Amino acid sequence: KSPSPAAAEAKSEAAKSVKIGIYFATWWALNVVFNIYNKKVLNAYPYPWLTSTLSLACGSLMMLVSWATKIAEPPKINLEFWKALFPVAVAHTIGHVAATVSMSKVAVSFTHIIKSGEPAFSVIVSRFLLGERFPPAVYLSLVPIIGGCGLAALTELNFNMTGFMGAMISNLAFVFRNIFSKKGMKGKSVSGMNYYACLSMLSLLILTPFAIAVEGAHMWAAGWKEAVSEIGPQFIWWVAAQSIFYHLYNQVSYMSLDEISPLTFSVGNTMKRISVIVSSIIIFRTPVQLINALGAAIAILGTFLYSQAKA
Ligand code: 3PG
Repeated sequence: KSPSPAAAEAKSEAAKSVKIGIYFATWWALNVVFNIYNKKVLNAYPYPWLTSTLSLACGSLMMLVSWATKIAEPPKINLEFWKALFPVAVAHTIGHVAATVSMSKVAVSFTHIIKSGEPAFSVIVSRFLLGERFPPAVYLSLVPIIGGCGLAALTELNFNMTGFMGAMISNLAFVFRNIFSKKGMKGKSVSGMNYYACLSMLSLLILTPFAIAVEGAHMWAAGWKEAVSEIGPQFIWWVAAQSIFYHLYNQVSYMSLDEISPLTFSVGNTMKRISVIVSSIIIFRTPVQLINALGAAIAILGTFLYSQAKA
């Protein structure tokens, strides 16, 4: 006997939830590994412009190989696609390099606490630049977000202005990236995985000349020698791991965007930050004061209230 339509629908809903749950768990796990290796590399080799470039280069290479070997179907795209992708790639590049510069200066947990304030940037940009209006509850939810981030920043033991500003710039850039990519992905038949692959490639082209101008081969070579002599040959594996995991977590996050609403995505992103903050504090033995942790908790609670208010 075939199941009733209601039972079949419930089954497909359950299958969808399981699928999204797997995406989320994979995304968070990959992100935690990326953040740990990224910080290990930056501690020994403080060249965030190069490490950001290597992450994009590694992802681009992985995808080119996947397309060439037909592991993944190459996308059918035209010049229009690349033109629409350009502003997204500029914002992605700025957000990525700014977050990496931030993490080279402060604890991973601090960068992510400030990055949990991203919804506040989203509301401010949407309100003042796009003229969008929100219900009062959305504005109210910004109070704990901004207040919590502010409290965490003021009580951070190893506060550093470049680290703080890097995370703030990253927030602003990623808000623009999300606004532009929503426009760019609309009506396109490119999958989330291939969309992110093209984004990596274009961002790599944009970032490379700037990375050379800001840091340069001379510094990279001298620093590399020092890092290898201090850490040993496994340093190369740390660099490889941070680059591979950077691509993988972003790829999975874009793949999950195919399945869920931007709102669910932003809740998932906040939960991802909790796992990164907690695991990095444990692994790097980051000193935290109670008041500092309270600020982080208030900010994160605020992002949940924000998502409820928006829903
Ligand atoms: C980066 O290097 O791009 C940042 O770590 C990105 O942070 P997010 O993907 O967690 O916003």
